[in-house]
Amino acid sequence: MLEHLLRLHDAARQELAVFQFAEEVDSTQDWAQRHPAPARGAAVYVANAQHAGRGRRGRAWISPAGAALYVTVVRRFARPPAQLGPLSLAVGVALARGLQEIGLRSVGVKWPNDLWVCGKKLGGILVELRPRDGGVVAVIGFGINRAMPDDAQIDQAWTDLVREGVFCDAETLLSAVLDDLLPALAVFDLEGFAPFEADWQRFDLLLGHTVRIVLDGAEQMGEVMGVSSDGGLRVRHAQGERIHHSGEVSVRVAA
Ligand code: BTN
Repeated sequence: MLEHLLRLHDAARQELAVFQFAEEVDSTQDWAQRHPAPARGAAVYVANAQHAGRGRRGRAWISPAGAALYVTVVRRFARPPAQLGPLSLAVGVALARGLQEIGLRSVGVKWPNDLWVCGKKLGGILVELRPRDGGVVAVIGFGINRAMPDDAQIDQAWTDLVREGVFCDAETLLSAVLDDLLPALAVFDLEGFAPFEADWQRFDLLLGHTVRIVLDGAEQMGEVMGVSSDGGLRVRHAQGERIHHSGEVSVRVAA
């Protein structure tokens, strides 16, 4: 994929400092981190296939050639690490907006950062923060299924754009999501999560639902009240409201 094939508006183009494409890498996350982060703007690393793709919680991310978008965006943030908690939520909002632009009406975000369509996973986001030179470099990976093989070995319900009736090439898909994402990262760095809250509520698939929270092996039921300003999940339990943070809990919608 060549950079000149991307169709980006000026706001995204101005944020794009580096664009790299490779036919196959281990993981775009690891490939990206073998290079210095740009002083300003974002570096975008795209691969057609990954042989060691990584998901959250140490899971493998199945990455067959040409079947999905495998992307890592590297960007420095002036905000202290403690304020970057909701970054992955803002990324989810930006990707969902981009997907709507190419006709995927029914996309939603499942906290903290899964892209879902009608109860099936379409994509996932993996944000890794690295302290660098007194600031923070965010290594933001995402995978979006486009035209996966029928026999993909994925251990949960999944879908892709073709199965959802959206037919587009990889360049169109990448352009659509970067057009939203690159300016969104700049907005987040300046203003935090507040400008994304309304859209988060629009895409939030858990809001108002009864969920099962698994925390340290114990299960608790509760109703999702939304997200906190630091990106936590607000859940009303019988004992009162609690804020859960990603990495600490897993969340399932109760049947
Ligand atoms: C998840 O839902 O578990 C997050 C999945 C993130 C996958 C993407 S694909 C591009 C980038 N490179 C990786 O190895 N992982 C992320």
